[in-house]
Amino acid sequence: MMSLSNSISKELLHSPELQEYMLETVVYPRETKLLKELRLITSNHPRSLSTNCLLLKLTNAKKTIEIGVFTGYSLVLIALTIPDDGKASIIAIDLDRDAYEIGLPIIKKANIEHKINFIQSSTLSALDELLNENDNRGSFDFPSSKQTKLAIKSTMRE
Ligand SMILES: C[S@@+](CC[C@H](N)C(=O)[O-])C[C@H]1O[C@@H](n2cnc3c(N)ncnc32)[C@H](O)[C@@H]1O
Repeated sequence: MMSLSNSISKELLHSPELQEYMLETVVYPRETKLLKELRLITSNHPRSLSTNCLLLKLTNAKKTIEIGVFTGYSLVLIALTIPDDGKASIIAIDLDRDAYEIGLPIIKKANIEHKINFIQSSTLSALDELLNENDNRGSFDFPSSKQTKLAIKSTMRE
């Protein structure tokens, strides 16, 4: 059974006031102009992605993959974070090309299109296809999906 203090801290973590405070004090001040522009045109809540950034930097990730792109908020963040050395890249998979194209002007403005390989496909078929190439097996440094596990369980449309 959950203790009272655990249940209070769980509720606190989900409180809109705390979320707003974290956005105002942690997320927005670190957001670049282009990411802000993309968030505003997406009219979507930004997710707290600073941990991803930190992990990408700490692990010096180069070959990355994003499952579920939508308009590309976290895609842009990853592409801006990985090095621009001609080797770092991100495979971006989504069924919805139209959503990706909403964010594409920002990707172009940010000069990161060359790092991105967008694959319009269902995740499972795209992953099967990628795994057919032996070089891809075990080769990704950083997978990004808001819910890598949930993506497969619940947000996927297949
Ligand atoms: C929560 S959004 C992704 C948010 C995005 N990472 C961001 O930073 O804004 C989920 C995305 O997953 C995509 N999606 C859902 N099921 C999918 C599937 N089976 N294969 C590929 N993409 C899928 C949807 O089209 C949608 O764009």
